Amino acid sequence: MSPHALAAPPASPALPELTALTRRYADEVRAGRHRVVVDPAQRWYSLLRSDDTVDVWLITWATEQFAELHDHGRSLGALSIVRGALTEDRWVPGSHALAGRRITAGRSVGFGRGYVHEVSNPEAQAAVSVHAYSPPLTEMSYYALEPRSDGAGSALRRTRTATTAPGSSEGVG
Ligand SMILES: [Fe+2]
Repeated sequence: MSPHALAAPPASPALPELTALTRRYADEVRAGRHRVVVDPAQRWYSLLRSDDTVDVWLITWATEQFAELHDHGRSLGALSIVRGALTEDRWVPGSHALAGRRITAGRSVGFGRGYVHEVSNPEAQAAVSVHAYSPPLTEMSYYALEPRSDGAGSALRRTRTATTAPGSSEGVG
């Protein structure tokens, strides 16, 4: 056997496993095993895990803090809410507007490649969430929602693409 056969990278988790991973870390945060800081000036991040297959972030969201409309490049993503609630506005291809939903404490969502959303905390209580990306984020794009030239609703326009360094909080959310 070639020694290279042993050097194959570990398999990346699929979406259900990635979502379950955020639930396990959310349980740890609830159990007090990780430091949690809420910063009224900006979202606060803590990298809980980082390896070749996955990054796991703890994020806090004071009132009105948000992540603008973005994708996750080539990564799958998932999040679990530890406490509080987040509002997610998601792009649904073929639709005319973003689809909003409120994700409350204890709930989890996963997102596949091509998923575009903005995430915010419009509520009085701070929100705490755990996010995982697999493979780790390397590049992500931001979007604006604009009226289509043919008048048939709205379309996404990419406004910029950012490169994400390993372990960087650029774009997480
Ligand atoms: Fe996101």
